[in-house]
Formats: sequence, structure tokens, C-alpha cells
Amino acid sequence: MPEDPTQRIASYQADPAQVGRVLLLYSGGLDTSVMLRWIQERYGAEIVTLTVNLGQPGEDWEVVVTKARDLGALDAIVVDAREEFARDYVLPAIKANALYGGGYPLFTALGRPLIAKLAVEHARRTGCDTVAHGCTGKGNDQVRIEATVATLDSDLGLLAPVREWRMGREEEIAYAREHGIPVKGGTEVPPYSIDDNLWGRSSEGGAIEDLSSPPRDDVFQLVTRPENAPDAPEPVRIGFESGCPVSLDGDRLGLVELLERVAELGRRHGVGIVDQIEDRVVGLKVRDLYEVPAAAIVLPAHRELEKLVSTIHQNTFKRALEDRWAYLCYAGLWHEPLRADLDAYMDSANELVSGEVTMRLYKGSATPVARSSPYALYDRSLASFGESGGEFSQAASPGFIELFTLQSRMAHRVRARAAEKREDGGED
Ligand code: ARG
Repeated sequence: MPEDPTQRIASYQADPAQVGRVLLLYSGGLDTSVMLRWIQERYGAEIVTLTVNLGQPGEDWEVVVTKARDLGALDAIVVDAREEFARDYVLPAIKANALYGGGYPLFTALGRPLIAKLAVEHARRTGCDTVAHGCTGKGNDQVRIEATVATLDSDLGLLAPVREWRMGREEEIAYAREHGIPVKGGTEVPPYSIDDNLWGRSSEGGAIEDLSSPPRDDVFQLVTRPENAPDAPEPVRIGFESGCPVSLDGDRLGLVELLERVAELGRRHGVGIVDQIEDRVVGLKVRDLYEVPAAAIVLPAHRELEKLVSTIHQNTFKRALEDRWAYLCYAGLWHEPLRADLDAYMDSANELVSGEVTMRLYKGSATPVARSSPYALYDRSLASFGESGGEFSQAASPGFIELFTLQSRMAHRVRARAAEKREDGGED
């Protein structure tokens, strides 16, 4: 039986008969522009577009709004959500040292639940019954957006036209031409699928799918290639208060501005290029190329400060929770209560993560080279070679060693005896 893409599988999918006014998550690109017209035609619906500024570099929001209106949108809304994104999404990720698959700082995954939350708010405010997005049926973003919308408002229907319309790139361009939709950059298929915000930029698809080849130079539009970065290293001193970055080289800055400035430094020094094979929530393995200059500096600096102020027990335990946090975020389960539980732990663990870390940026690397904190669990006089006194007595060490190694020494003897016995038995 051929699959019918319009068939509703999930309860939250829009009933075509009930689609009256649609809140369309609109980027201004080809897919969502074609969607703007296609939904009007296919469902006879009115469209309100929502475009969310999460710090994507080089966007002209006025142009996006004009394009939406020209294509028939009833209203075209742009929300500058950079502050909220930094404070409520990126900061918890910093406190959780969040990396998925070892290298992805989750910028897209962090942005989607905020975009979806704003979609719900503006859909209600403008009288929409449906939310539409431009995600494909193969990625994580559909999971994140639909999970959030369905969680926050079960009365809203969801439409994902790219999953159902079965147009290839060429057909989309043809549709755009027929419907007077301006196509940027001619008819040429853009070489990669890009997503970005103030916490990073990703490229997927096209030549990137050839795993056996190194990335082509045209992928990297943000970060300088390390070999072209300046020959002189540059130090940058980042101040933290309770896990939140608050200053750069002693200047206090708001989080958005601080992250943007760190990103700029990282870009220049070739910092934050990641080439990783990733396991998507929907099962596929895929190769992603990331440019994450801010995250590649801020996360190691934050971790460095934790090493200094937290105990070995806190630091080893936290790693396991960090992986859980990153997975929930990646998988689109932003509203899963376990995440709030984990955040409470992360906040508590970060309470005294205050101080400064100097990172040295040099041809693609960002390395901690100096650190200080009023809460450091570090006493130079105790650490110094040859000294004794205060809370540490070298004379106590042999007693410690005897007790600490007791079980291991005993086990070694027992095993040696057992091996001897087996050998003796084998000779009979
Ligand atoms: N692989 C990353 C993620 O799943 C990046 C996705 C980028 N999204 C996109 N629509 N190009 O979060």
C-alpha cells in the first residue's frame, strides 16, 4: 500500500478540515517561502509568520518581514529573543557543560524549544489554530518543535508541509517561480543545509555526506581556518559568577554581548571547528560540521573553574548528569521534568563557580592557562613540595596508604594463591 503523506498518524497533527489560520515559523528561505503560498493554496488558510532572532549573524529582519507580507501573510512578526535564549537556554547548557556526542554544544537543539514556545504564544495571541514549520521528516528539529508545541498546547494542530508535499528542490524552485516567490542565488541548489544562532553554526548535507573526504573549504563561513589564523596567540580572561560568564578581560558585559565578543575572538583564531558523526533521535547517523567559536572557549573555561572549586566527588558525579542533560536537550525533551531536576542540581553545583579563567587562543586551540577563584579548594602552601603543616601531615601518609590499599593488597594475595592451587591441581 503506498503511504499517504497527508494521513494523520499522531493526535497532534492538524486536521485539514480545521485549518483556518496558521502560525508559520518563517526564516525567509526557499522552503518556508514556498510554504507560505502552498498552505494558503492547499488549505485556503490565513497565515501569520513568526521569525525568531536568536543571534543568527548577517540577517536582515526587515527584508524577511517584507517578503512575508508580499507573499500574502496577514501579519509578519519578528521577535528578538536573544536575551531570553542566552539566559534561559544557553546558560543552563553552560552550567551543565552540555555537549552531545562529545563535540556538539547543542545550539540548534537549545533554540528549537524557545522557537516553539514563542510559536505557541503568538499563535494564541493572533487567533491561529495551527502551527506550521519547515522541518523535514528525517531530522531532529521536527521532534523538538512538535514535542514542545504538543506539550504546551494540545489544542493547536501541527503542519509539516515539507514532510507531505514531496517536492524536490527543483520542483520547489519551479513552484516558487510560478507563484512569484523570489529565489535567492538563482536556481542553484545551495550546497549545504545551514542552521545558526549566537551559540554556533551547523552545516549538513551535500558534499558533507561523503564521509571519506575532509570538509571542503566552502563549508566554513564563520571560523577562520586554523592555518590562516594569526601567528601570535591571544589570551582572553573570562570572569564567572555562579557558573554564569559575566566579564571579559575585566569588563562586565551582558551575556548576549559577552558571547558575541567571545565568538568573534574565537572566529579570528580558528577556534571551534568540529567534524562529527552524530546519532539523530530518529535513528539515522549523519555527519555534521560545526563552527562553535564561543562554546569552544566558554565551556572549557567553565569546566576549568569547576575543577578548581568543586570536590572530586562533585566533579565525577556531575559528568554523568551532564550527559543526561545533553541527551534530553538533544532529543527535544526540554519539558521533561528530569531536566528541571537536573537543572536544580546544576544550579547547586555552580553556586560557588565564580572566578576567572584565562584562555589562550592560538591557531584553532583554546587552552586554559591561568585560573583563580575565591572559592578554590587549593592551598599553595599545602601543595608545595616538601612542606608540611596545617591540615596536611606528611607523617600521616603511610598510615593512609596502608588503609587505602588494604583490600587491593589482600585481593592480590588471594588471587595469587588461587592461581597456584589451579596449577597444582592441573599437574595431577
Ligand atoms: N545536527 C544538529 C542537531 O540535530 C544540527 C541540526 C541543524 N538543523 C538544520 N535544520 N539544519 O541539532
